Formats: sequence, C-alpha cells, structure tokens
Amino acid sequence: MKNSISWMRVVVLFFIVLGLMEFFIDSGDKPAVIAYPMTQLFLVLVLLLLIGIELILQAVENVMFQTLSPEAKERYLATKSESKGWKWGSKTYQKLLGSKPIEAEEEIILDHNYDGIRELDNKLPPWWVYMFYATIIFGVIYLVRFHILNDYNQDLEYEQEVAAARIEIEEYKKNAKDLVDINTVELFTETADITAGKTIFESNCVACHMADGGGGIGPNLTDDYWILGGGIKNVFNTISEGGRDGKGMVAWKQILKPVEMAQVASYILTEINGTTPANLKAAEGELWLDPETEGQEVIEQAKDSVTVASPTATETVQ
Ligand code: HEC
Repeated sequence: MKNSISWMRVVVLFFIVLGLMEFFIDSGDKPAVIAYPMTQLFLVLVLLLLIGIELILQAVENVMFQTLSPEAKERYLATKSESKGWKWGSKTYQKLLGSKPIEAEEEIILDHNYDGIRELDNKLPPWWVYMFYATIIFGVIYLVRFHILNDYNQDLEYEQEVAAARIEIEEYKKNAKDLVDINTVELFTETADITAGKTIFESNCVACHMADGGGGIGPNLTDDYWILGGGIKNVFNTISEGGRDGKGMVAWKQILKPVEMAQVASYILTEINGTTPANLKAAEGELWLDPETEGQEVIEQAKDSVTVASPTATETVQ
C-alpha cells in the first residue's frame, strides 16, 4: 500500500513548537535557542518524538490494513487517495491558475492560424487579476490617507524613530554603566555613585593622596591645578592609564572596573576638589579650566584660592 510518513506534519508541528518556545521564553535580544543552549536539546527531543509518533502511527495503520478483507482494502485506499484536504487544495490551485485542461482546449481555440500556429483565448489567470485588484485598493487607500488626509510623512516618521532610539539609548546607558570609557565617561551626580567612589578612594588611594586629598606621594587633588589634566575625562584617563612613568601612579584599569574608575573620579571632582585640607601639598601642574565654563571669573577665583592656600604655589605654577 502507498503509505509514507507525513513529513509535512512533522515539519509543521516542529516549527509550531519552536515558535511557541520563542514566544514564551524571554531571552532578550537573542533568540531563545541561542541564549539558552539547553533548548536545542529540547528541540532535538521534540523532533525525535514527532518522528517516533509518525512511525508508530504508520505501523498501526499497516497492521490494521492487513486485517482488512480485499474489498475493504480497496475501499480504504480509494477514500484515502482523495482525502478532503488534498482535494480542496488542488481545486483552489486549479481555480487560481484559471487555465483550461489540455482536453478542453478545443473550446477556447481561435480561428487564427499562422502557418499552423494557433492561438488559445485563455482568460487572465485569477491569481494575477486578484493581485491587480489588490494594488488598486491599496492605491486608493494610500492616496486618500497620505495625499488628502496628510496622515504623516517621511520626515515625521524619521523624527519619531530617532526620538524613540534616543530614549532607548538613554535606557541602555542607565543599565550599562560598566560600558563607560574615556569617550563616554560623564560626571556621576547620584549619591550612590559618589558614596561608592568614596569607598574605592578610601581603600585604594589614600596611601598616596591622603583621605582628604591633600596629597603625599601623589599630588593634591583639591585645587584646580592638574599635572595630567582636570575634568572628568582627564581624571578618568589618569586613573585608568596611570601617571607618568616612574612617578608611582599605576594604571588602575587592571584592578578597578570602568564604572568604579568613573565613580572614584566623580568622587574626587565633586567631594574632594575645591576643599581645603589641613595638610595641603603645593599645587603642581597647570591650571585647568573647564572648556565649557571657561571665563574670566573662573580664572580669578582659581588663582585666588591657590595663593591663599599655599603661598609657594606661585613658584611652581606660572
Ligand atoms: C602609590 C601611590 C599612589 C596611589 C596608591 C594612587 N596614586 Fe594617584 N597619583 C600618584 C602620583 C605619584 C601621581 C602623579 C603622577 C604623575 O606625576 O604623573 C598621581 C596622580 C593622580 C591623579 C592626577 C593628578 C593630577 O594632578 O593630574 C589622579 C586623578 C589620581 N592620582 C587619582 C588616584 C586615584 C583615584 C587613586 C586610587 C584608585 C590613586 N590615584 C592612587 C600616586 C598614587
């Protein structure tokens, strides 16, 4: 008897399971099969199970078939070969093609005869005609919506997408503090970050910079004079890459995480910088002016505070 496993059924069921799995498992950006390799094993099991079920069904059908009388066998085969779904499918397919079967071509043949070449008066295939109607409907709706009602245009669409993307980037940045580097680092202002920075400073940096930032082996961190540049970017860079060779300031990027370096840099700039410690090491380096707030006032103030804090500073600094 003609009886093959329904591979179609196996494939369809398999993809339904796969689809359901992807739908229900929350795996972020990646598909679940990649995010959780265990699911691959699960899918293989599902596939084996489906094949197994098909094999069993086939075996059962075989056994049943053998028990039938010859007439019953014939009847069974007849009904099977024209099972409903298949019949409906092939009928609609024929309808959509709209072509006459070869036996019926006599009905549509035209009188023209070009040296034995003759012409059939075929109808336009319905699949093509329906598609053509669909484009007309689409065209009308489009015309009314965008040229009469002015629903939205490309500019608006673009702006909306950019705005949405900006929000997404902000969200992403919030959750991905560890991604900061010299190009993206910004001054943290949240108390949690500053407190974390303080802890890091106290456990790693006080030996050379003192708890109040007054300086020791390392320079003071309280004034506006910086050897390696002020501002969050430079300070972050100094902490990450270390100071000049042989001066004693190591590159902390091996020890601290990027976010920790940003936290301690923010702590220095917000809590330590600008204070007047008891033992202040003389200013070293150059006066740093924030390029964004640069102005006469800032320069005056900065010079004043240095002269007051340490009279010797004027010699080291020009
Ligand atoms: C072993 C001593 C030592 C330790 C520990 C140390 N530093 Fe330094 N630090 C220095 C020295 C020395 C310099 C000057 C480097 C130079 O002149 O190039 C410096 C420079 C700096 C500067 C730049 C100052 C300027 O004027 O440009 C910053 C910012 C800084 N350190 C932050 C830190 C932080 C944050 C830590 C802790 C994570 C730390 N340091 C730990 C010795 C140290």
